Amino acid sequence: MTHPFPLAAVLGHPIAHSRSPQMHRYWLQKYGIAGDYTAIDVAPNRLESVLRMLPDLGFRGVNLTIPHKVDVMQIADCCTDAARSIGAANTIFFTENGITADNTDAFGFIENLRQNAGHWDPSKPALVLGAGGAARAVIWALKNAGVQDVRLSNRSIEKANFLADQYGFQVVPWEDRHSACAGVGTVVNTTSLGMKGQPRLELDLTDLESSAVVTDIVYTPLETDLLAAARSKGCTIVDGLGMLLYQAVPGFKGWFGQQPEVTQGLRRIVLS
Ligand code: ATR
Repeated sequence: MTHPFPLAAVLGHPIAHSRSPQMHRYWLQKYGIAGDYTAIDVAPNRLESVLRMLPDLGFRGVNLTIPHKVDVMQIADCCTDAARSIGAANTIFFTENGITADNTDAFGFIENLRQNAGHWDPSKPALVLGAGGAARAVIWALKNAGVQDVRLSNRSIEKANFLADQYGFQVVPWEDRHSACAGVGTVVNTTSLGMKGQPRLELDLTDLESSAVVTDIVYTPLETDLLAAARSKGCTIVDGLGMLLYQAVPGFKGWFGQQPEVTQGLRRIVLS
């Protein structure tokens, strides 16, 4: 059956918080595409049956959010290198090969850096704080972009050890993260510290060079204390909203056939 009206959705549980429908509907309208993107609450035990049913209804694919990103790896018929290495998928394409799982968080992270910090230099070491789900995508992205030396610091050192072993990176004890700023070209916060309602991230930037790029995956608030401190040192700062916007690009392109642009207009829609 062919469906001239392409559909896509974000599946999660709960799902009300998702900003993905606003983003994709903004692009659909902007490019005059007669399709739709919606949000569907799917309980974990229904994920596979829902994914198997959606292509017949005209869905070209979906985004996945909490709690489905890791579980889908057991369901997918095939997956990209990014999804396999990161161990999680946020973007699904329904193809002739079945359910194809991709991870575009890594693309979103690196594209946000490239677009907003033109001089970003992957030949310099990077300091990554955190070793949770978001860190996995960030570390894979940095490795793929050619960063050879990543210093990984996490409150629970065993999680940092596990990730660092996978990539041959070094671990910095959480209490030593401040001095690990010396000589790095990039600092990334992937922890939830600094998010509205969470404790602040304590990071002494004394040893950080002003040529460094500092980015935070937290985007509520848009300018975290970390970014504000880095800005006052003269560093280039890149906020976390861009990662959310850029990770949506490959999905939209694959489902609706149009490469969408990340613009100030899109930022305004998502922020409002
Ligand atoms: P996500 O998928 O968004 O990365 P996560 O997997 O729960 O979420 O990871 C949260 C990250 O924030 C972890 O690195 C966590 O550190 P632990 O591995 O030690 O739990 C970090 N984090 C959360 N609260 C923290 C706190 N109060 N102090 C230090 N790190 C914290």
